[in-house]
Amino acid sequence: MDKKIIVALDGYSSSGKSTMARALARKVGYVYVDSGAMYRAVTLYAIRNGLVNPDATIKTSELIKALPSIHISFAPAGADGVQHTLLNGEDVESQIRDMKVSSLVSPVAVIPEVRERLTALQQEFGKEKGIVMDGRDIGTTVFPHAELKVFVCTNAEERARRRYKELLGKGIEVSYDEVLANVLERDHIDSTREVSPLRKADDAIELDNGTMTPEEQMEWLLKRFQETVAK
Ligand code: DC
Repeated sequence: MDKKIIVALDGYSSSGKSTMARALARKVGYVYVDSGAMYRAVTLYAIRNGLVNPDATIKTSELIKALPSIHISFAPAGADGVQHTLLNGEDVESQIRDMKVSSLVSPVAVIPEVRERLTALQQEFGKEKGIVMDGRDIGTTVFPHAELKVFVCTNAEERARRRYKELLGKGIEVSYDEVLANVLERDHIDSTREVSPLRKADDAIELDNGTMTPEEQMEWLLKRFQETVAK
């Protein structure tokens, strides 16, 4: 039997890494974990429980106290092929994608205690290997020994265009400028935070997918996967 590996895909928001990661996992029969969904679920919990200040910052110490009562898990992909995120057992997949969560998730992801808890949970998911995980710090912090690390980079305008189309497709009303501003703001917070900032791991392969079709991206990733498994 082929050896099982860990695949870490990191990159900026809306770079298409989740789509690639999910498609690879399905193709090779691995588990897929969207680590961003976990930060989004914690953010949704904070919003629902009044842990957001009037100035739209997070009530950090109260959120830290609440961490033990936040349980995140995933329901296997259903008919739509998408794995659903569960917050304390409730399916919150669509709520965690809205703009309110998107605009508050980076400040939540800055909190070291939140990162510590989610990192431990992510490492637990990867104990048996055979996993594809995407995020910001998977190749640097969560799985520094992952056999295959990919860092996806795409320019901000292209990423905002993709996200804008995706939101419109879901019937969410938003302007392109609003989406671009959110993408740029998140890039800045994600790459300048003190704990586990977004950066390419030294041994990660860089992929600029700006002009690639989803099929080309998949072909590229599958090839890297096969080369790594064969090593
Ligand atoms: O991939 P995404 O856009 O759904 O991620 C949402 C936010 O979560 C993003 O702004 C940064 C944060 N995040 C993180 O800090 N570390 C990860 N491993 C994944 C996401």
